[in-house]
Amino acid sequence: MSKNQAPSAQVIEKRNRHLPPGPRGYLLLKLSELQHQPIEYLDRLWREYGDLVRLPIVPGFTFYLAAHPDHAEHILSTHQERYRKPDFFLKPMGLVQGQGLFTSEGELWLKHRRLMQPAFHQKQLVNLYAVMLSCVQSLLREWEKKPEGEVIDIAAEMTRLTLKIVSSALFSVDISGEYNRLGQAFRTALEYVYYRINTPLAPPVWIPTPRNLKFRQAKQTLDRVVLEIIQARRHNLIDNRDLLSMLLTVRDEVTGEGMSDRQLHDEVITLIDAGHETTATTLAWTWYLLGTHPDVMANLLDEVQTVFNEDDLTFEKLPQLQYTRRVLDESLRLRPPGLGLAPRVALEDDEIQGYFIPKGSIFNIAVYFISRHPEFWDNPERFDPDRFLPENVIQRPKFAYLPFGAGSHTCIGKNFALMESTLILAAIAQRFSIELVPHQSIEIEPRFTLRPKYGIKVTVQKRY
Ligand code: HEM
Repeated sequence: MSKNQAPSAQVIEKRNRHLPPGPRGYLLLKLSELQHQPIEYLDRLWREYGDLVRLPIVPGFTFYLAAHPDHAEHILSTHQERYRKPDFFLKPMGLVQGQGLFTSEGELWLKHRRLMQPAFHQKQLVNLYAVMLSCVQSLLREWEKKPEGEVIDIAAEMTRLTLKIVSSALFSVDISGEYNRLGQAFRTALEYVYYRINTPLAPPVWIPTPRNLKFRQAKQTLDRVVLEIIQARRHNLIDNRDLLSMLLTVRDEVTGEGMSDRQLHDEVITLIDAGHETTATTLAWTWYLLGTHPDVMANLLDEVQTVFNEDDLTFEKLPQLQYTRRVLDESLRLRPPGLGLAPRVALEDDEIQGYFIPKGSIFNIAVYFISRHPEFWDNPERFDPDRFLPENVIQRPKFAYLPFGAGSHTCIGKNFALMESTLILAAIAQRFSIELVPHQSIEIEPRFTLRPKYGIKVTVQKRY
């Protein structure tokens, strides 16, 4: 537009609209702080500027912190058609997960979500419960053989257990024997994805840099293990009543088509990936919180002993562990597996809380801050499972608590994860007393999940 030309009505309207508040200038030089200490950094901005903070990183790339339940509801539910996961996130994630449920959008996502949803229905979980129980029992047998007072890293143990559960539930094959190799391959691949998302000028993956080569090797290991299992099952089509059997037989209601090996591969990798690290991190922090709150631990044990005494934990009675479930809910509030959900980009100009949101804005829906927002959570840093008594839950807006996300992309494995975690907590508490090793360094490592950086060291002692 030349200097003398009058701006269009739309441009004037945009100019007059207010952008959300935030620090001045571009934050490129602060990027390292944002990446390495995101909780501390964003917490400061949240306190200074409020629930919606604008963070211009470089020209053309502006990031927003959204820390109010209403923002989450706007983006994930009421105006979800205006937002999607951005390519700078989907493409690197797709290097590992292909076009699985977590990394697809639009029609493809909808088709797969419809195909996969029945496999996660509550009534299917009955079939998976026995698998979960047998995996926990085998861990308990291993622990029984340990010398009294031996120190273990319960975060690593929970990762091993949840990997074993998710792989057994998916394909009735225990891949945790390959835990070191497979777990390491996942970790290497995800570290790499994290690096790519945070390094816009990273060399393309086909260039043989040491980092790229390491990633490609990890990816090959993952692909090989998963494709071998799928192909073996295709040749020997027995119904194992596991998730893979279900996924092999699902048909699109409209086209009648099933999934190709490639699609199955992508979904299987997605489910292993999304389904073990999140649950393991949740359980690790729950043991930490129980260790630092002996009164809560005593209540939990009391409930487990009242409901089950020394008997096996049955599927039918598991829902009676309501206090245990509240402990998990509260642990997920204080330590959600992620600081935020996957980023979302605005597909068109929008308005949130009276502020103008230009097309292309990138949002971090900050679950971590929303679930300690003082307007909805009294004394937010206090660990108090009774916040999740039904009479307290109905007082809060639904979007004030989002550990499993919300809207159409809400976690497909939520019921699986909650059943699994309740069972694991109860089964371990019933047989072992867990004590935190004193004076250890406990810190959050902010990656895709908020893992304990140095693990969580405990001693386990048999109860009977
Ligand atoms: C405590 C455990 C878990 C937590 C806290 C959790 C959390 C989440 C969250 C927050 C999302 C939504 C992300 C977004 O919208 O950006 C999500 C999506 C997803 N989760 Fe989970 N998850 C857990 C366990 C699981 C398990 C056990 C599985 C599978 C076995 C699973 C599979 C998935 C998949 C496939 C998606 C993508 C759904 C879609 O986009 O349609 N998750 N999870």
